[in-house]
Amino acid sequence: MDIYGALYTTRAMRRVKTDPIPEDVVKRLLDAAIRAPSGGNQQKWRFLLLADPAKKARLQTLYREGLTELNATQYKSVMDLIRNGDPHDPAVIQAKKTNASAEWLADNLARVPLIVFAWGKPNGESSIYPALWSLQLAATAEGVGSALTTLLFKKHTQQVLDILGAPEPTEWVPMAMVTLGYPTGRWAVAQRQPAHEVTFQDSWGVPVSWRVEEPLWQ
Ligand SMILES: Cc1cc2nc3c(=O)[nH]c(=O)nc-3n(C[C@H](O)[C@H](O)[C@H](O)COP(=O)(O)O)c2cc1C
Repeated sequence: MDIYGALYTTRAMRRVKTDPIPEDVVKRLLDAAIRAPSGGNQQKWRFLLLADPAKKARLQTLYREGLTELNATQYKSVMDLIRNGDPHDPAVIQAKKTNASAEWLADNLARVPLIVFAWGKPNGESSIYPALWSLQLAATAEGVGSALTTLLFKKHTQQVLDILGAPEPTEWVPMAMVTLGYPTGRWAVAQRQPAHEVTFQDSWGVPVSWRVEEPLWQ
């Protein structure tokens, strides 16, 4: 797979099989992740690989709780759109798909074969995202589906850290987890708001002279 193939098709692939990921694949994913850039090349990151079924089951309970609460608060307008919107509206169709996929994860987290948790250092936390994105791109190249989620660190941070035996969040800041497994579905190009609609030329608000109506990789 060329790099553009991975860039265009790496999506939140939440539905996965229970088959374990071989250790040599896991090693390649982590080895790719730690090649990523970091502020001052500090490499202040830590990863924890979770495959333990009992711990995953405890985390699933927290994840389910977290998503149910988000659906009733932050995502309420999306949930209203799903319930009351025109079922033929592409926005409604997309929202339903994302919601169904997110619900699957909340009900099946314990079945996901491997979860990678990631930490950064206070004031340098953002350096974790290039590393996790590299890990996700490498996963795609290996035929492994991945999904980055932050939900467990919204309301349940301390409970999650306790389950993982992790230090206080003042020392290492828990940032995200990436679920990994062999996909049940197929990869497809991500549909997004086009580049020309979100890019300015020289001054804020000045449109660029070009347009990209269709994805430029196929
Ligand atoms: C910083 C960040 C946090 C995210 N948190 C969650 C999350 O908590 N739960 C989840 O299901 N997906 C999460 N996602 C995945 C997004 O929902 C997903 O990338 C987006 O809906 C686009 O979907 P697609 O990749 O399938 O096109 C997160 C993504 C990012 C970049």
